[in-house]
Amino acid sequence: MQKIFYDTKCLNKWIIPEKLESYREPAAEAETMLKEKKGLGNDFLGWLNLPIETDEPFLTSIKNKADEIRGNTDVFISIGIGGSYLGAKAAIEFLSPSFEGLRKPHIIFAGHQVNSDYMSDLLKLIENKDVTLNVISKSGTTTEPGIAFRVLRKWMEKKYGRKESAERIIATTDPQKGALRKLAEKEGYATFPIPPDVGGRYSVLTPVGLLPIAVSGIDVFKLLSGAKEATEFCSGNDITQNISMRYAIIRNILFRQGKVIEVLAGFQPQLHYIGDWWKQLTGESEGKNFTGIFPAAVDYTTDLHSIGQWMQEGTRNVFETFIILKKTDNTVTIPGFDDDNDGLNYLKDSSFETVNNSAYKGTVLAHLDGGVPISAITIEDRTPEALGQLFYFFEKAIAISGHLLRVNPFNQPGVEAYKQNMFAFLSKPGFEEKGEELKEKLKELDLDI
Ligand code: PA5
Repeated sequence: MQKIFYDTKCLNKWIIPEKLESYREPAAEAETMLKEKKGLGNDFLGWLNLPIETDEPFLTSIKNKADEIRGNTDVFISIGIGGSYLGAKAAIEFLSPSFEGLRKPHIIFAGHQVNSDYMSDLLKLIENKDVTLNVISKSGTTTEPGIAFRVLRKWMEKKYGRKESAERIIATTDPQKGALRKLAEKEGYATFPIPPDVGGRYSVLTPVGLLPIAVSGIDVFKLLSGAKEATEFCSGNDITQNISMRYAIIRNILFRQGKVIEVLAGFQPQLHYIGDWWKQLTGESEGKNFTGIFPAAVDYTTDLHSIGQWMQEGTRNVFETFIILKKTDNTVTIPGFDDDNDGLNYLKDSSFETVNNSAYKGTVLAHLDGGVPISAITIEDRTPEALGQLFYFFEKAIAISGHLLRVNPFNQPGVEAYKQNMFAFLSKPGFEEKGEELKEKLKELDLDI
């Protein structure tokens, strides 16, 4: 059953039918390029058929490993960055209880930044605990997860010895090549493959996302079956049906009207990391050749008390895509007080959702008055099926949108620039000369950093 919908009724002022019509052909071309694997980046289209091609025995092997981990682990540490981190984080935060203390095992992420305090706190947290590590890296050479893994592997080998720790380390990496694959084979770690034709930000439905998600207790069969349903309503050239295509077209039309920032605005805290995952998906897929929509994500009503002012009256180069969860799992109502000291008795017995929905309606009308083009993605419920549909909907939409922008949606050449410089500053072998050059540059700029 379709659980994700895309509502564009508020866009009439910006999207005239002729404009929409003019995008039909290029969007259909993009759809064909993806289907026939002909466009830019066509060697990275494995994600398109993952929901159909991932078979039951494979999912069962992930579920079995996850069950084993759930049975012998207090803290499960998922080590990875970018596409090797954000999908699992988004899914777990969307579908799990709000507080880490209510979850078992604890699922902690590491290697997604570089910080001694975080690592030192993590080492304190796992003292006297049983730990399983899942190191996730397609290339196997990414610096952030690489150094986090070194520290945690050392800790594991000290606590369990080399042989037993190898039984508690799982490597998710390229099926054949790379440093992590080599190490896993040498040490005898269990491994799960990342298909070579699936890039990091499109990998949530591979073991990259699936293993940590399954460890959290989420039903990965349902997640995949949801994504499979989305392959139906996110394909074809009929934009009333193919909501990925409609969303892609709308984004591009607004972009051409000078709306260069898209704000994904959620009204539920469980959506926060969906926003982070989406920022990577859109930013890395589209921001190249000096074009692309800048993706920003906000959490309302929290951010209505900060960024809300800018949304209402700031520079009008923005459009807003609401992401709305229609049902919560629980209903908390507001109690009355005889003294009505705060004047809130008028809300007695109302649910939090009644208040939240009024805030939503109020925001839509206010931002429309403020000249912000608005559309809305709705999610029927907080279930793995709905989430699977949402992941696939966005992946497909951004692939089409990237093609409409005439960029390769599946590479990320720009992320190399900082890495090369960082290697030079760290005196990585082979980067010595560049290191000297960069130090000179810092001097010229009088930068004492
Ligand atoms: O989307 C991408 O390709 C990147 O964000 C990668 O996922 C990220 O850089 C991590 O790479 P790796 O899995 O090789 O460590």
